[in-house]
Amino acid sequence: MDKFATLEYNGKTYRFPIIIGAEGEAAVDISTLRQQTGLITMDYGFANTGSCQSVITFMDGEKGILRYRGIPVEQLAEKASFKEVAYLLINGHLPTRSELTKFSILLNDNSLVHEDMRSFYENFPRASHPMGILSSMVNALRSFYPALDNLEEEINMTMTRLLSKVRTMAAMSYNISLGHKVIYPKPTLTYGENFLHMMFDSPVQPYSIDKDVAQALRVFWILHADHEQNCSTSAVRVVGSSRANLYAAISAGIAALWGPLHGGANQAVIEMLSGIVKEGDSIEKVIARAKDKNDPYRLFGFGHRVYKIYDPRAKIIKACAHKLLNKLSLSDPLLDTAVELEEKAGNDPYFIDHNLYPNVDFYSGIVLRAIGIPTSMFTVMFAIGRLPGWIAQWKESIDDKNWKITRPRQIYTGPTQTDYTPIHERSGGLSFRRLGPSCPHPAPNSGKGGH
Ligand code: CMC
Repeated sequence: MDKFATLEYNGKTYRFPIIIGAEGEAAVDISTLRQQTGLITMDYGFANTGSCQSVITFMDGEKGILRYRGIPVEQLAEKASFKEVAYLLINGHLPTRSELTKFSILLNDNSLVHEDMRSFYENFPRASHPMGILSSMVNALRSFYPALDNLEEEINMTMTRLLSKVRTMAAMSYNISLGHKVIYPKPTLTYGENFLHMMFDSPVQPYSIDKDVAQALRVFWILHADHEQNCSTSAVRVVGSSRANLYAAISAGIAALWGPLHGGANQAVIEMLSGIVKEGDSIEKVIARAKDKNDPYRLFGFGHRVYKIYDPRAKIIKACAHKLLNKLSLSDPLLDTAVELEEKAGNDPYFIDHNLYPNVDFYSGIVLRAIGIPTSMFTVMFAIGRLPGWIAQWKESIDDKNWKITRPRQIYTGPTQTDYTPIHERSGGLSFRRLGPSCPHPAPNSGKGGH
């Protein structure tokens, strides 16, 4: 393979080095492009831009491959615990027995949330979307847990606190939104079991943990644990690049994940499937709408920036959904609708030509519904799963010898120099009408806060 790429511009030839990754993927290093040529690159949505070199996650979107630190996600989903995967992503290797024991103790010891934070929770309006609450509360953690003097200790404590407390905080926001008692974690339970316990246990209706439900949650979280430079991970790296603290960077990641084109798609899929079932729409009609360029409607849970064949995570979560529903002897009309939609879209030339296949979010909501998670909490479940990946990527970025504050350029297309006009010489503009004192709140727990 050539070691340089050449660019011809204004009668001159420039050479730029090629960087080759561990799996043979290649990039042109244009770090000196502007300095040498005066040009910048334009790449909407950064679809062709590498922002870093990373040793954490490998994806091949053409072959449907996903590996964390080299280990195929299929093997991890079958054999590993979520805690092991978190450790693997952050530390670069699977933990030994003693490392895992130490990690478990630290997670247990840090699982409580500062009691003063409860008053914050209690003062969010009832209809608040849990993602908005989680993002705010994670950012607020910095105020409750000020930085330690020793940087290494500070980083380790912050990572542990986040991994442990985020479950407690998510379950806490759910219980408070219902007006229920906050349930505290138990040291005898695993990471996932503890979350289920804090979500669903009640003084009047004790919750018994079903092993199949805990297994499904484990698989769901492992599949979401990292996905290299996606929108939310890039947000974490961008915020971290200004040397803002880790809580602030993760809070930004949660905010980015919230959108329906990213993690919010798991909620949007269930709303879409429920709409189809409720309205009695035919799948053909839904597919026709998704193909219509004059209609903004899209099939949520379909398509991916990187995967141009079936998302390997979708394969696993689909099997998990069928298995869990069978084991729990549940039937869900949304699963039948999803299967029909996948089959019919899969045979449609538009979806074939555009390489649009189900992504992880298409079936994950069915699993979360079977576990008993309310729809408005779906993206929070994604955030808990993605947290180890965000932390690992942030840690890698702050140790990166090529680190720079993120600061893209632009091509300006606005007016050229224009003189200031005094106010009495300006014309036009909108008439102004003062609005009422405040907007009414939507119904409690409508789950519509985000979209
Ligand atoms: N339904 C119908 N058409 C679609 C869809 C869809 N879900 N996704 C893409 N297209 C079409 C799009 O209209 C465009 O068509 P054309 O080239 O004829 O104008 C073409 O496919 C390329 O789409 P794009 O929006 O340019 O692709 P992208 O790489 O920028 O966007 C995406 C990727 C995931 C945002 C997009 O596929 C989408 O909006 N999907 C639905 C939302 C969703 O399920 N998101 C979850 C992604 S997986 C979880 C995660 O990691 O975030």
